[in-house]
Amino acid sequence: MKALVIGSGGREHAIVWKLARSERVDSIHAAPGNGGTSGEPKCENVELFGRDPAEEEVQEALIRYAFNEGIDLTIVGPEAPLAAGIADRFRKAGLAVIGPGAAAARLEASKAYAKSFMEKYGVRAARSLSYTDPAAALAAVRSHFGGGSKAAFAPPLVIKADGLAAGKGVVIAEDLKSAEKTAAAFMKDGVLGNAGKSLVLEEFLTGREVSVLAAVSVGARGGGDGIVPFVSARDHKRRFDNDGGPNTGGMGAVAPAPDFSAAAQRDFVESILKPTLRGIKAEGFDYRGFIFFGLMVSEDRCRLLEYNVRLGDPETQAVLPLMESDFAELCLAILDGSVNSFPLSWKPGAVCAPVAVAEGYPGEYRRGDPVAFNEFSFEKTGALLFAAGAVRGAGGPAGTGLRSAGGRVLAVSAYGADAAEAREKAYRALRSVSFEGMDYRRDIGAD
Ligand code: AMP
Ligand code: GLY
Repeated sequence: MKALVIGSGGREHAIVWKLARSERVDSIHAAPGNGGTSGEPKCENVELFGRDPAEEEVQEALIRYAFNEGIDLTIVGPEAPLAAGIADRFRKAGLAVIGPGAAAARLEASKAYAKSFMEKYGVRAARSLSYTDPAAALAAVRSHFGGGSKAAFAPPLVIKADGLAAGKGVVIAEDLKSAEKTAAAFMKDGVLGNAGKSLVLEEFLTGREVSVLAAVSVGARGGGDGIVPFVSARDHKRRFDNDGGPNTGGMGAVAPAPDFSAAAQRDFVESILKPTLRGIKAEGFDYRGFIFFGLMVSEDRCRLLEYNVRLGDPETQAVLPLMESDFAELCLAILDGSVNSFPLSWKPGAVCAPVAVAEGYPGEYRRGDPVAFNEFSFEKTGALLFAAGAVRGAGGPAGTGLRSAGGRVLAVSAYGADAAEAREKAYRALRSVSFEGMDYRRDIGAD
């Protein structure tokens, strides 16, 4: 079969890598892909000329491309094109596509909508209040810090922009002044554009964060609706070791999350996974794709922080190397409604995937630097290099053939019999990678 993968990050490189290992897959087209995808066997990049697959015209062009090339399966990586209806357009054109339609994509694209869905279907989550009126939101913020019975929940206060904000839409405000400033910046000053027009105020939760990705198949004609969770993972969102510094797109992941106990997993299935499936069915969504649960876990009790309507990045770079099953076949099972009987299997052991970032990230960062590595270190450890913000570019000694082009440049993903071995191998291989100004966290999966 011919597969089309939409997106340009590390997640998409991991998807392409996994598809390339499938006997069912003859060729892969990555639109636009990155410097890593074009180096995978069977794969070629499709030029989007710098245009964004969230644009309607680009989506129409991709549909034409899929017809011309005889694409059998399209996988949409990022959320923005899904929120803009790419899966609806592909399905309407009669093309097989992995990803929910725009209506279900609101589970990620609107936090207020996601919250109302969780409440409606009894998905256990952080308590919250949603606002569309800036004056009402400011009054709520003030009364929250007013103390006593006025506060809906104890400070600090989690303030979330409703819409997609590329990791910049969540602020944890410790005091009234910063909370007022954030609410005004989002709602009145429009620093996040339309994403900040509505606001969610949320209870601050403590515990350990866990990510669970899952395959969802709801709406296949003649199929059985189902949702099948993958092995768990943990992202590390803060820029520096020991969770210091600003939020980022993700500085590395481990899979499975070492402390996600069997009791917590059972709790997740009963309190979050099952009610979510009920809700997706009851809303009548055509949801054939992946879903991501961002959990806060404390004493084996899970609360849902967020849904994403796609695979997580960088979790995918840690989870897919653990998947034993054929990813293309899993996608076909999602499409025809047979996920419940799909023999999804996982390797025992663990994967650690630290991310190397460019100097300055997550602020303004350097780019254009050649990326070198020691091939022997990768051979010895069996580590994989997943490119993210990296394009093909000649030059540099011991070159990977990559040149940095984004903030998160690449992830190195290594398998081990346990988390400690995976970590040791991943860092051994990562230490052999170099580009000017490169940095990474030293503590991915360390506890
Ligand atoms: P998000 O952009 O929704 O992934 O949120 C970014 C990060 O903010 C999450 O990964 C958490 O670390 C943190 N966060 C979000 N909601 C809460 C909450 N209710 N309590 C504590 N931390 C939170
Ligand atoms: N790692 C969380 C995300 O993909 O947004």
